[in-house]
Amino acid sequence: MSSTQTSLTNPGTHRADLSVRMRRLRSSPALREMVRETHIRLEKLIYPLFIVEGSGIRKPISSMPGIHQQSVDQMLKEVEKIAENGLRSVILFGIPEKKDPEATGAWRSDGIVQKATIEIKKRFPELLVVADTCLCEYMSHGHCGIVEDGRILNDPSVDILARAAISQAEAGADIIAPSDMMDGRVAAIRHALDSAGFTDIPVMAYSAKYASGFYGPFREAAESTPQFGDRSSYQMDPPNAREALREIEMDIEEGADIVMVKPALAYLDIIARARVITNLPIAAYNVSGEYSMVKAAAANGWIDERRVVLECLTGIFRAGADIVITYHALDVAAWLR
Ligand code: PBG
Repeated sequence: MSSTQTSLTNPGTHRADLSVRMRRLRSSPALREMVRETHIRLEKLIYPLFIVEGSGIRKPISSMPGIHQQSVDQMLKEVEKIAENGLRSVILFGIPEKKDPEATGAWRSDGIVQKATIEIKKRFPELLVVADTCLCEYMSHGHCGIVEDGRILNDPSVDILARAAISQAEAGADIIAPSDMMDGRVAAIRHALDSAGFTDIPVMAYSAKYASGFYGPFREAAESTPQFGDRSSYQMDPPNAREALREIEMDIEEGADIVMVKPALAYLDIIARARVITNLPIAAYNVSGEYSMVKAAAANGWIDERRVVLECLTGIFRAGADIVITYHALDVAAWLR
């Protein structure tokens, strides 16, 4: 007879006080739902879209099943579906026809994100359009700033970012979301928006954005892989947490309305710590690599996709996020309806 069996038949003296039984509140679906602490709501999710020039284009991203590069006409069909399914916001990433060392496509009034924004707002005025403000998709070298002698310059990059932000606001963007990680860009963008009369357009700052391997599939989608080096001279070092809190505090000081932590799942501690230091809304970006891993495992039949996606998103909200940017948003909307 093993010792376990012995203790089962012979309970002995080490018995917990069972006047408290945690299982009482888990005994029925209605009870579990009554005491449930965290909910996923569609108005908290932002769905990313990748826009290309041309028409009739809907090109699948091989590393992100279900996600496409789309021309504006095709994108509008998807936006209709997005709205029908109860989602309330999208974030736009543009892939210009031509890239150059000045990121011209980021700030031109006929840039791809500007054109997409105008068309969405014309047809779906209620849908929130978040404009990702960055230079990497528009730069021939794929970095998020101006490059000189192999270095990424800060201040001249900030000037272009501010210009891009104004141009996106002019096109009708509802929220400006700088994702470049240059120093001082939130203050510069806030000042530029205010000077141009866009005092009511909020800035959602990618405040704690880490130099992450989880961005791999996005770079296929946005064609924004750096042509040399990597982004570790401007994006954050993954081992650092206190530095993330400094970044968040500084962005708040500079006028951010919403702060962001990115990626989400490997950085839940940062979300939770940010929740403690600020009362601003916190966004979290459930990034491309996090999406692709779930999709790959689900395609192999190794996990239950719906269950795992909802569990991941619940975890991000439970950690303290108010808003989640996720490629799963459309699936989630369909499941929850
Ligand atoms: C642009 C940007 C990136 C992402 C969002 N904005 C890529 C990067 O920094 O290389 C990544 C999003 C994702 O992986 O889903 N700077």
